[in-house]
Amino acid sequence: MSSEMPKESLEVPTENTVFPEVPDVKSSDSPVERQEGGSDKEECLEPLSKRQRKKLLKQKQWEEQKDLRRQKRKEKRQKRRLERQSKLDTNNEGNDRKRMRREVVPSTLRLIVDCSFDDLMVLKVIKCKAAVTWEANKPFSIEEVEVAPPKAHEVRIKIVATGICRSDDHVITGALVMPFPIILGHEAAGIVESVGEGVTSIKPGDKVIPLFVPQCGECSSCLSTKGNLCSRSDIGPAGGLMADGTSRFTCKGKTIHHFIGTSTFTEYTVVHETAVAKIDSAAPLEKVCLIGCGFSTGYGAAVQTAKVEPGSTCAVFGLGGVGLSVIIGCKAAGASRIIGVDINSDKFAKAKELGATDCVNPKDFKKPIHEVLIEMTGQGVDYSFEVIGRTETMSAALACCQYNYGVSVIVGVPPAAEKITFDPMLLFTGRSWKGSVFGGWKSKDSVPKLVADYMKKKFVLDPLITHTLPFSKINEGFDLLRTGKSIRSVLLV
Ligand SMILES: NC(=O)c1ccc[n+]([C@@H]2O[C@H](COP(=O)([O-])OP(=O)(O)OC[C@H]3O[C@@H](n4cnc5c(N)ncnc54)[C@H](O)[C@@H]3O)[C@@H](O)[C@H]2O)c1
Ligand SMILES: [Zn+2]
Ligand SMILES: [Zn+2]
Repeated sequence: MSSEMPKESLEVPTENTVFPEVPDVKSSDSPVERQEGGSDKEECLEPLSKRQRKKLLKQKQWEEQKDLRRQKRKEKRQKRRLERQSKLDTNNEGNDRKRMRREVVPSTLRLIVDCSFDDLMVLKVIKCKAAVTWEANKPFSIEEVEVAPPKAHEVRIKIVATGICRSDDHVITGALVMPFPIILGHEAAGIVESVGEGVTSIKPGDKVIPLFVPQCGECSSCLSTKGNLCSRSDIGPAGGLMADGTSRFTCKGKTIHHFIGTSTFTEYTVVHETAVAKIDSAAPLEKVCLIGCGFSTGYGAAVQTAKVEPGSTCAVFGLGGVGLSVIIGCKAAGASRIIGVDINSDKFAKAKELGATDCVNPKDFKKPIHEVLIEMTGQGVDYSFEVIGRTETMSAALACCQYNYGVSVIVGVPPAAEKITFDPMLLFTGRSWKGSVFGGWKSKDSVPKLVADYMKKKFVLDPLITHTLPFSKINEGFDLLRTGKSIRSVLLV
């Protein structure tokens, strides 16, 4: 780069050429100014020489070119700035798209999903068949009922199979007091049809078992390792409604009560989220429905409540579906002697098939049955189970167990309004008297595991199911129970 004036003749200015500044008019009396400025001083100026004019002209041209170059540079800079800006815009657009995909789309979808419960997927009332018990000691009446949609934290289930348990019959006879009209049934399996707002553990299409003992996970029993009878359980005359004090069933304009939070003698039912367990999708519902009550209750009474030990002696009073499940539990626990007690000797073959070593019929003896059992075992049994639901057999079961460390478990539902008077000496000497609801299982946690164990063939259910009937034959199924001809009848809904 030259710092000198260009040689006036030849040198072609480049962009980088630097020219000296045009002399200041005031300071140097520049001839250019004088000539072009047209000032009043003009006349008194000397005329320019040819050489000077040429030089000035060139300088002027150079100045113009310099301006042009500056202008061009400015334009270039502007162009570059514009290009950068548009690139930035494109990037932002990409980023925006990414953000849309990352945030906006999912949140919109979430909104749609959230809305679906209330706005988009309006759940409808289902009209279906149900077996309604209008009053005590009357046959079931198959009716068309309306089943309301599940409310928040509720689940509506299509019942596929439901077993007949003696506890249902206890309501009909009045031994277990519940309000009428009612939809009974509590031992079932089905498929989730729809869920209410806030249900996260279960979705439509899941195979499930309703739980007549719920597991809320928050009450003192749920929080204790020692208990399972959740405070949300709905057992007793004040029951029959969902937690909000209303029913999901109506029939002929009348409100129909729920039964222990389950009500399974219907094509569709609604239960609380805490009263339903999701099970293996491969599980056969017409078999595992027994895990909803009979099997789990009996099996758990032995392994969970009594904690039967290997080599122990046991007596099981009542050889129905629940009593036979106690036998299965005693055998699984390694009991060396299991004595079945029933006034129906027809039950003995099945009891022996499932593990009973002896069976006795109280009708065959003159002396009280507890004395018979003490004689049979020397000191009485280590564990006894009452699985009938009668006060006299509850007393006999307590009396037949070993005087110091024997344990007696009440499984049968105590008949309403009946009391027991007993010699306190029976307990003073050391015996324990216990009760067991749903086998002591924490339901929501345990039912899926029990189903898994059944799938792994750790126990059998099939021998307990003596009859499989269409739902319409529910009254026939109850007749089979009352006449002692069935163990478990499963109704296919
Ligand atoms: N604790 C619970 O959680 C729970 C759960 C389910 C059922 N249960 C109750 O368990 C009991 C049994 O239920 P199940 O479905 O097996 O009933 P079930 O009717 O099938 O069986 C009862 C058996 O007891 C026999 N029996 C009747 N009277 C007798 C007597 N005096 N002496 C000896 N045997 C007699 C019957 O012949 C029958 O075999 C019922 O009271 C039922 O309500 C309790
Ligand atoms: Zn039952
Ligand atoms: Zn609870």
